[in-house]
Amino acid sequence: MSTKIFVTEKIPDKGIIALQKQGYEVAVSEKDGPLTREELMVALTGKEYNAVLSLLTNKIDGEVFDAAGKQCKIFANFAVGFDNIDMKAARERSIYITNTPDVLTETVAEHTFGMMLALARRMSEGDRFMRKGLYKAWGPMLLLGNDVSGKTLGIVGLGRIGARVAHHAVRGFDMKIVYYDVVRNEQFEKDYGAVFVPTVEDLLPKADFVSIHVPLLESTQHLMNDVRFKMMKKTSFLINTSRGPIVEEEALYRALYDKTIAGAALDVYEKEPKIDPLFFELENILLTPHTASATIETRQKMSEVAANNIIEALAGRVPPNIIVIK
Ligand code: GLV
Repeated sequence: MSTKIFVTEKIPDKGIIALQKQGYEVAVSEKDGPLTREELMVALTGKEYNAVLSLLTNKIDGEVFDAAGKQCKIFANFAVGFDNIDMKAARERSIYITNTPDVLTETVAEHTFGMMLALARRMSEGDRFMRKGLYKAWGPMLLLGNDVSGKTLGIVGLGRIGARVAHHAVRGFDMKIVYYDVVRNEQFEKDYGAVFVPTVEDLLPKADFVSIHVPLLESTQHLMNDVRFKMMKKTSFLINTSRGPIVEEEALYRALYDKTIAGAALDVYEKEPKIDPLFFELENILLTPHTASATIETRQKMSEVAANNIIEALAGRVPPNIIVIK
């Protein structure tokens, strides 16, 4: 019997080609966009797939695993995050879950940094201004922003991406780093002259820019809320390229409207893909559609990494990017 793989949405082709080279039968969802839960259940039920290449838009729980069947050894997530997957249900069924770390670190760090610059220098406001035909003359007071160089960047979550954003900040923009993480990294402190703080509350009043890089967990949901926004400087900016529910959007709206903070940039949303339309009325927010890892090169690499995890698992080996939750 042939080995069958299901890919829940069209992805860049390198991984698909790699799977086909193994002689696998690869079925890719033909829908333009994410499958609904019902569509995913129908797509999997009775099809006897040996592996599923899933996306962060697929909510995967015990029912979905059961629909896929016992012969299905692995769900390879096309993302570094895996909060869309019920890890306990996977563990109970001995299904491998893998992600695509490393290959997207630089790309997400670039996007984060780009948002920081664009926000501080009011680039999206400037773009809107130009498109409305409002530019009449160079003006000494026109759209004045803030410098980034030399300022203090607060990194919340010093994983791969947070550390890379800090690298660009220090090496490229002479910024100072203050960071919070559950684990202290003294080597990082030496390398970048960074200052560790034991709580988020200690970080917020010190930073001119606060960039969020923690995973979505019960403990990080609404990490940024009314109380925490009030701890930030009035002149400071928030950037979130991690997961939407880490920022309580109603509180963020209030903080931006009341000018409790100077501005925010979001790539991810609390009720993604829904967004409160009130945000569109604010000038001091920059919005991108969860595209922080969206470059041709990186999405191809993610495709290859996800495919390789499947190939290794189906060859009876432990896939390289297996997620183990202790
Ligand atoms: C994107 O958000 C990812 O987790 O890869």
